[in-house]
Amino acid sequence: MSLLILGIESSCDETGVALVRADAGKGVPVLLSHALHSQIEMHRAYGGVVPELASRDHIRRVLPLTEKVLADSGATLEQVDVVAFTRGPGLAGALLVGAGAACAMAAALDKPVLGVHHLEGHLLSPFLSEDPPEFPFVALLVSGGHTQLMRVDGVGQYAILGETIDDAAGEAFDKSAKLMGLPYPGGPVLSRLAEGGDAKAFKLPRPLLHSGDLDFSFAGLKTAVLTQAKKLGEELEARKADLAASTQAAIVEVLVKKTLAALQQTGMKRVVVAGGVGANRLLREQLDAACAQRKIRVHYPELHLCTDNGAMIAMAAAMRLQAGREQANKEYAFDVKPR
Ligand code: KG4
Ligand code: ZN
Repeated sequence: MSLLILGIESSCDETGVALVRADAGKGVPVLLSHALHSQIEMHRAYGGVVPELASRDHIRRVLPLTEKVLADSGATLEQVDVVAFTRGPGLAGALLVGAGAACAMAAALDKPVLGVHHLEGHLLSPFLSEDPPEFPFVALLVSGGHTQLMRVDGVGQYAILGETIDDAAGEAFDKSAKLMGLPYPGGPVLSRLAEGGDAKAFKLPRPLLHSGDLDFSFAGLKTAVLTQAKKLGEELEARKADLAASTQAAIVEVLVKKTLAALQQTGMKRVVVAGGVGANRLLREQLDAACAQRKIRVHYPELHLCTDNGAMIAMAAAMRLQAGREQANKEYAFDVKPR
């Protein structure tokens, strides 16, 4: 028996919808189609995500995207067996749109719903790749709101090895970019600018690099970037690429060293990187090089599935159902968990 799972993501500034097929028993579920609308253009004028505008735009996008996903896969809404949605964390109003749409569709179809943890979606997103990982593995989860190292023994079997005590890695990218006067979304813009800069130009701190544990801290780095930017004054404009490169190098070095420490501590030979910062080229290059030396296998989501999308939500729901970790139900009086 196989299940068709529709997944809806609306936690922040991307509306994502996808259809996944899960076959009973073994085998990684298969992505049939997915569609995404990014609100980046809309929020750019404000320098960041405006929650109210995000919610309203999710409302406009969610049904047309659903229709597109069904049309692309050749399936009908009636054939969908389970409707999954991101339950949190994220922006409350934005989450309510996806949850509301999912529960309304499911109620109309008399089908069950399943709320998914957004981070579990990111964590399992490498299973959407052609060459998916095998359990167990160490996971480096690096998004705009989270930075965690985890030991992953199977679906739903997650143990946190270390995490940030202040800002997330994506936040460090975004806030540093803002301090340098770069436009939203800071992370990718800063990293593109960094390509033309000298990473050794400025000495920036590597917080907690030698702390001996697997925790992270990025708030001090952001302050150091601010101090450096102020010191440069009018010179900042001409030195921006160097400052961007130095900032990126500091963030990436900490991420790579701590990931290697987690691999050593657990004795594992496999690591999965997930979340928006997983799209960063320097991080991929440095982690690949360090892991190749140690005969460690690194898995990433496909580049376009690093940031938020519906495919990871449908996949996480499918894998949870397949593993028997969860039962979808007809509880349509949904709630969301922003935090
Ligand atoms: O996973 P995600 O789409 O959303 C959250 O769940 O937070 O991650 C977004 C984060 C942002 O902080 C963004 O700046 C960062 O990922 N990001 C990057 C890159 N692409 C996205 N950071 C560095 N380099 C990139 N290429
Ligand atoms: Zn995310």
